Amino acid sequence: AFPPASGVSVAELSRLPEAELRSRVLARPRPRHVAIIMDGNGRWATRRGLPRVAGHHQGVKAVRETVRQVGELGIDFLTLYAFSSENWQRPETEVSFLMTLLERTIDGELPDLMAKNVRFRVIGRSAGIPPGVRRRIEHVVTETAANTGLTLVLALNYGGRDEIVDAVRGLAREVRAGALDPESIDEAAVARALYTDGMPDPDLLIRTSGEMRVSNFLLWQIAYTELWVTPTLWPDFGVRDLHVAVAEYQRRDRRFGRV
Ligand code: FPP
Repeated sequence: AFPPASGVSVAELSRLPEAELRSRVLARPRPRHVAIIMDGNGRWATRRGLPRVAGHHQGVKAVRETVRQVGELGIDFLTLYAFSSENWQRPETEVSFLMTLLERTIDGELPDLMAKNVRFRVIGRSAGIPPGVRRRIEHVVTETAANTGLTLVLALNYGGRDEIVDAVRGLAREVRAGALDPESIDEAAVARALYTDGMPDPDLLIRTSGEMRVSNFLLWQIAYTELWVTPTLWPDFGVRDLHVAVAEYQRRDRRFGRV
């Protein structure tokens, strides 16, 4: 924990010239782990009279720019909610467009991820992901495994409750095998059984496009996470939005349940 920066409101932060905002952000401890619910691609497109998929296409550009900016801020982990376990219920054409977009993007970004020293990881249920996409993912995960900069985590076919179910199953199997005493299961043991094993909990969760919901994202991990909801639609999310979110985080007084 660090002392809150006094005096400056969100509105004032938002009005600061970009260079000043950035130097404020760099002058204070940054979050170690930022998680983002990237919402509003569909609305962005619909407002322009475009098909929803045009919003996803533009969303990829916002992803690229965000990865770059987050890396430059020296943040260690960035987790992006790319496809939830509920998203399969969307029209088939949209689902297959998203899968193709993911496959192409993940593959195409490899040289850039290497150049930026980014380690790539995926969380979610791999069963259900088309084999082509899965192969690309595995390739990029392997190639970037030794990188030491930002860890970029893509939540894909991810559900927070699914994750907890999978963790419980894993622990139950260990108990059945006689390798684990149920009484020894503590928070650390549960955390190790989650997809996010080895990662710190998010310090800051950003949600775009205004909805005040958690939407089954990182349910266990966000117990003490600071939340930031912006009305900006994901395709419009830029460096300024990121800096405002981090500056706002830096003003918060994190107490983790203490006084
Ligand atoms: C939410 O907008 C966005 C998604 C469900 C998909 C997120 C995917 C991307 C940004 C593209 C994939 C990019 C990579 C490489 C990670 P929405 O469709 O729910 O928008 P709406 O709420 O306005 O309908």
